[in-house]
Order: sequence, then C-alpha cells, then structure tokens
Amino acid sequence: MTFLNLGEQPPANALLKDEAQEETSYPLALCSCPTCGLIQLSHVVRAELLFKEYFYFSSVSKGMEEHFAVYADDIARRFVPENGLVVEIGSNDGVLLKSLIGCPLRILGVDPAKNVAETAQKNGVPTLTGFFDEVIALSVRKEMGPASVIIANNVFAHVDDLDTVMRGIGILLDDNGVFVIETPHVASMLANLEFDTVYHEHLSYFGIKSLSALFDRFGFEIFDVKRQSVHGGSIRVFVRQRRDKCPPPSEMVAEAIRIEEHEGVFGPNRLESFAHDVAMLRVKLKGLIAELKGKGKKIAGYGAPAKGTVLLNYCGFTTDDIGYLVDATPVKQGRFCPGVHIPIRPPEFLHADMPDYALLLAWNHREEILEKESRWRHAGGKFIIPIPRVEIV
Ligand code: TMP
Repeated sequence: MTFLNLGEQPPANALLKDEAQEETSYPLALCSCPTCGLIQLSHVVRAELLFKEYFYFSSVSKGMEEHFAVYADDIARRFVPENGLVVEIGSNDGVLLKSLIGCPLRILGVDPAKNVAETAQKNGVPTLTGFFDEVIALSVRKEMGPASVIIANNVFAHVDDLDTVMRGIGILLDDNGVFVIETPHVASMLANLEFDTVYHEHLSYFGIKSLSALFDRFGFEIFDVKRQSVHGGSIRVFVRQRRDKCPPPSEMVAEAIRIEEHEGVFGPNRLESFAHDVAMLRVKLKGLIAELKGKGKKIAGYGAPAKGTVLLNYCGFTTDDIGYLVDATPVKQGRFCPGVHIPIRPPEFLHADMPDYALLLAWNHREEILEKESRWRHAGGKFIIPIPRVEIV
C-alpha cells in the first residue's frame, strides 16, 4: 500500500555545481508491507547514480564522531579477539574504524564512493572501493581470513539487493562472528514525523520485525538490540548465525517489536495518519515562513543534509523564502541544493550576514548546532526547528 507521496524529486545529495545544471527527478513515495512492516520506496534509483561521488562525510559532526568512537570501543571489547578482523560496509571517511587504529586487531573499510574512501585512507583506515557483495566478501576472506565482526552503519537501508549483501556476510563472517547494523528505526520515523528522512538513497525503513524476516532467510538471527538517539532515533542490531546452543535473544528484541506494534507500523491507519500529519506540517511551516517574510525578516537554512533537500523541495521553498544554506562540509560549499537551487555557503557566512532566522534542516544535530551558534543566538538569531514539530527557539 502506498501511503506517502512526496512528489517527484531529484536525488537529495546530488548537489549542483552551478545553478542552471540540468537534473532528473524521480518519484518519491513510500509503500508498506502489512506482514513484516517493511516500508520501502516505490521507485528505485540506480545505486551508481547515487553513491559514486558522495558529499556526506560522517566526521563533520563531532557528536557522530564521539558516538562512533564509543560504539567501536564497545564492539571491539565484546566481540573481537586479539588480531581479529573488523570489516565495515559503507565505512565512509573511516569515522568508526579510525578509533580502532592502534588496537590489537585488524580493520578494513569497504565503500563505493571513491572520494570518501580516499579520505578514509588518509585517516589511516585501509578501504576497498566498491559495493560490498559476494565477490568482495570472498576475496577479503581469502586474503585476510574470516571477520570477527562486520558492521554496517546507516547503509543497510541504501541497498536494493540485500540478498547479495547477506550472502556476502555469510561468506565473510566467522561462524562465531557478529554482524552489527545501525539504522534509523521506522517507529521513530513515524513517532517524530521524520518524513524528510525519506529520500532515494533510503530504500528501506526497517524495524526489528522486518529485519528478522530478512535475516531468517539466510540462517541468521537478531540476538540483541539497543535503541540509539542518532539520526532521529536508530536501532543498533546484533546478529549471529542461528545455532542450537545459543543463549536466548535479549528481551529487548521482543520489546522493540512491541514498540513497532504500538507505533502502528503494521497497519494502514497509522500510516495514513502519518501522511496526513506530514501534509499539516508543510502547511504550518510554509505559513510561518510566509508570515516572517511578510514582516521583512531574513531567513537562511542551517545545514545542507539530504533531508534538507527533501524538506525544501516538498515545501517548494525558493531563494525568495530561504536566501541560502550554510554547511560546515567544505565540498558542499559553493554548490546548490538540488531542485530548489538554493546556494550553500560556509557557516561563517551566517555570522557575517546575521539573518533573523535559520531553518534548522540538520535538526538531528540540534543540541550540537544550537551550542555552536550560541553567539549568533545571543545576538538575536533564532532557529526555526521543523521536526518533530514546527517551533522557534
Ligand atoms: P546528517 O543529518 O545527514 O548527519 O547531515 C548533517 C549535515 O549538517 C551535514 O551536511 C553537516 C552539516 N552540519 C553542519 O553544517 N554543522 C554542524 O555543526 C553539524 C553537526 C552538521
């Protein structure tokens, strides 16, 4: 059942080099499986178009860097024997693996984006450039032996052919190894109205029930889950090969499914009310921006994340509404937001220009950014927070 339609949109991370650059838009809509609760995009854009050059560098957020350092330490201590191998799929700029450098273990990243893989190499993280599949899994196993841990953070939802990845995991993971994934939780998306996390890179919106159904087909099972606050509410999922003598899964696994049931992930009513609330949020946000512009206020956008592209395009904002965006990622600066063609500047531009308001498109980094921009706020600058509800702080 298709329940949310965000219209035709260009790929959210395809930042434009110049304002007049031609772009292609694709349908952006969500449909759901009533049995396992898997929510997916109705239209798949080819991975080669989305991930060969990538503008997302995980290390730009200090909060995320800390998050991954604690995460890496926990995994290494619990699951990796001396000299064990840790492989990360979608390792980006090495944000997680770099904190394991110097530990008595071996690390390897795999990422399809040449430009971010190069940054990882510079950070001291050995990285293969490619989409993880059976071929890569076989060659890594041949050269380095089985992996004690395979990690996939914020990448599982990007994969169209999950069967290939799961077969690769089966090949590369040690029999007693652990596969750990971290991914936004569909229950949080619904609860917090995070419609802007829906973009072409995110093909799947997972919960424990839908992931369990997938892993089951490959002889794997979830044995623990930990909820995380990152990216608007995520789950860290611990997976092992199903065997007879394993201790039972943690109580948290059943608890996470209960949360999904409570949020109404599996039925049409809640999904339809979510879509209705999304439409209402748009009305409210557009009304607020129009009112402020009517009063002659200057408004910028803060952050140029993919979800910002979705929100701006869904609301139909132009440079008349939001003059520019600021983002701390150097490669994003000087580019333009897809679809709406709003220019992206460095954060210092905001300090020089002193707009009255900044629409916080990177709302998931709210605390970090509010603190970082305390001087601008003390000078009178206000943030408009769009998600989970429109508010001014
Ligand atoms: P994300 O929400 O997908 O992590 O993307 C956040 C974007 O916001 C990314 O382009 C980096 C940018 N950003 C800043 O410009 N300043 C900041 O302080 C933080 C935390 C993020």
